[in-house]
Amino acid sequence: MEHVAPPTGYPVVGMIGGGQLARMTQQAAIALGIGFDVLAANRDDSAARVVPETMLGNPDDPTAALAFSRNCDVITFDHEQVAVKVLEALTEAGANLRPGPAALQYAQDKIEMRKKLTAAGIPCPSWLAWEEGMSAEAAGEQIGWPLIVKTSRGGYDGRGVWVANDASELTQILTNPLAPGARWLLEQKVDFAAELSAQVARSASGQAVAYPVVRTVQTNGICTEVVCPAPGLSAEMAVTAQDLALQIAGQLDVVGMLAVEMFLTADGVLVNELAMRPHNSGHWSIDGAISSQFDNHLRGVLDLPLGSPQRLAPWVVMVNVLGGDQPDMYRAYRHVMARDPELRVHMYGKEVRPGRKIGHVTVLGEDLEDLLARAHHAADYLTGVIDE
Ligand SMILES: Nc1ncnc2c1ncn2[C@@H]1O[C@H](COP(=O)(O)OP(=O)(O)OP(=O)(O)O)[C@@H](O)[C@H]1O
Ligand SMILES: [Mg+2]
Repeated sequence: MEHVAPPTGYPVVGMIGGGQLARMTQQAAIALGIGFDVLAANRDDSAARVVPETMLGNPDDPTAALAFSRNCDVITFDHEQVAVKVLEALTEAGANLRPGPAALQYAQDKIEMRKKLTAAGIPCPSWLAWEEGMSAEAAGEQIGWPLIVKTSRGGYDGRGVWVANDASELTQILTNPLAPGARWLLEQKVDFAAELSAQVARSASGQAVAYPVVRTVQTNGICTEVVCPAPGLSAEMAVTAQDLALQIAGQLDVVGMLAVEMFLTADGVLVNELAMRPHNSGHWSIDGAISSQFDNHLRGVLDLPLGSPQRLAPWVVMVNVLGGDQPDMYRAYRHVMARDPELRVHMYGKEVRPGRKIGHVTVLGEDLEDLLARAHHAADYLTGVIDE
């Protein structure tokens, strides 16, 4: 493919990975007028369908990543599971990786993340890294039953997360195959009142802004609903969560977007995990904030002044559209659009597979109950769960 450079003076941001996050970053790149290139595995990947400067190649292959990086001023990622050998090859070649590998390791490996956050005094669920030869009973006694078992690397959308109620279940879970370099992380099963996400954008030179803290709902491990701001969260707790996220972004030298997933408990917040990229919990910001997470991710990695994360209405609700039995989503457009002209529909150009994230809808306004009902109706109608 011939590479078409942006007009004189404009930089090229290259994103490794061709999923919906890259697709939505493209929308922000268009407005900024910069060059935006994507390294995608397949021609029909979500971003590869819409980004003309897509290079097809295996994002886990250092040779492909190196060839891709030659046209780019900055390299960033739409997922964290970038192969270490790719990061090393790019670093060696002098590519400008944002976030850098030193930060990214804490989003790639949940044990490294737990160690780092615990050492920094950031509240986390109690945890231990499973070692060969440990006793399942003793581990359970230390953490308390039931406990959560996770693969340290390679999990996403709840794949790689199990609940063990007793030693025999734990022993059984630990027989599952592990991804290369992964280990088992055991942690306290937190009795949370809600799950929160605190997102911050941070630029290469250290400017940072905090988005309003949102409430997320996970269904079968997949984020399905986001409400901004988190309903019922005290102003004090919201500031605590934002402070933690800003502190983590600074201490880990994160560049671009950081999402800190948290559990809200009776005793305060505990950090679940980190994502150093635009995140599902921030899709509301495309329609609901002055500067979206995609805009600020690009500004952060380009070291531009950041945009305002301020929301545009008292409430913003985002509901994910997951694949159902109905293969054709477009057929539902007439109904959902006629029913609700204020509904914002975002579909990712992905084939329907049951449970797969294929789009989202957003509504904003003053009446939270009404917004929740409208967003869920639209998502359910698109999916085919309801037909009226
Ligand atoms: N320690 C815990 N206590 C209670 N629930 C938990 C715990 N850890 C994870 N969960 C539940 O499982 C979900 C997925 O866990 P986690 O975020 O660690 O996995 P993931 O697969 O990496 O997720 P993602 O889709 O965000 O990449 C959480 O959102 C939460 O609902
Ligand atoms: Mg998660």
